[in-house]
This record gives sequence, C-alpha cells and structure tokens, in this order.
Amino acid sequence: MKTSVMVFHPNIARSRINAALMERAQNEPELDLVVRDMYALYPDFHINVEEEQRVADGADRLVFQFPFYWYSAPALMKQWEDEVLSSGWAYGPDARIAGKRMMLAVSTGGLKDTYSVEGKHHAAMSELLLPYRIMTQYLGLEFEEPFIVHGAYAPDLDDGALAAVAQEYVARLH
Ligand SMILES: Cc1cc2nc3c(=O)[nH]c(=O)nc-3n(C[C@H](O)[C@H](O)[C@H](O)COP(=O)(O)O)c2cc1C
Repeated sequence: MKTSVMVFHPNIARSRINAALMERAQNEPELDLVVRDMYALYPDFHINVEEEQRVADGADRLVFQFPFYWYSAPALMKQWEDEVLSSGWAYGPDARIAGKRMMLAVSTGGLKDTYSVEGKHHAAMSELLLPYRIMTQYLGLEFEEPFIVHGAYAPDLDDGALAAVAQEYVARLH
C-alpha cells in the first residue's frame, strides 16, 4: 500500500516525538511511503494545491502526523484541509479521493488517563478527534484507528520507550 505521510510540525528541529517518528518511518526500506515535512515545504503557508492533490492521488493511504495543539492540529494542517480538500477533487461529482485510507498520528503533552470524561481534559481523544473522523466519512475515506503518543514529557517516555513507540508506528504503517 502506497502511503503519504504528511508531518505538520511547526518546528521539527525542536521536536522530540514527531522527529523520532518521522525519522523512523523514513528509514524503513520495506515501507512504500513518502514522508514530507509540510512546514518545510510551505513555511509561508502558500500551499501548492495541485502538487498536494497529485501526491495524494498517488497514495492509497494518507497519514496526518502532528503534535496536538489546543485540542487540534497546527494551523498549516487546517490550511491544507481548507485548500486541498476542494470541490471536484475531494468531494462532489468528480471526486477522486474516496476509497483511500486515512490515519492520524498524534502526539500529546497530556498523559493518556487525562484524556477521559473524568480526567483533566474532560474528554476522550476519540471525542476530540471526531471532526477528522466525520470529515473522512464525508469524503468516503476509511478512517483507521489513530496512532496516539501520549505524555510527550513524561519521564517514562525515555529514549528506549520512544524507540519502541517509533517501532509500533512503523508496524502500523505496514
Ligand atoms: C501551542 C501548543 C499547544 C498545545 N496544546 C496541547 C493540547 O491541547 N493538549 C496536549 O496534550 N498537549 C498540548 N501541547 C503539547 C504538545 O502536544 C507537545 O509539545 C507535542 O506533542 C510534543 O511533540 P514534539 O516532541 O514532536 O514537539 C501543546 C503544545 C503547544 C506548543
């Protein structure tokens, strides 16, 4: 399966989690994927819509990888959605993306148990990610179980644990 991994991190040079996932995915020769650093491609937010649609056309699965920012994604990812998912390509009579798979890969600062109705954030990740699930449903994409890395700053997510998480990520990308 051809996979397009789009990494939306505003400062990948200072990232620990997303940089590790990205590097691990890029160095997995058995995977048929292209990994793209979207903020490096579009630092001024001027997205090349035709190019994005061409890349997506060539993929069976789209992966949106990003750090959770204010219960959502960094701004460039929203811009990508608003511009690239256009009428006539993403939806409407001549839509072309239906049938592809879509996966979110999200890192959070919050620990896993803080994301529940009883927890600090008063909502589960499945609730907070609902707009993406509904969007993919609307577009006729298949929403895969999100890959979530919680507790970005937790002491137990040391280098060994992060390497194991990156390995799990690669397994999900197969
Ligand atoms: C602007 C901003 C907003 C954030 N909002 C959230 C949030 O809503 N929930 C959360 O759990 N973590 C939040 N965080 C923490 C990030 O998710 C965390 O720094 C990131 O996942 C770590 O990944 P990285 O090492 O790739 O940067 C936020 C961080 C920043 C800078």
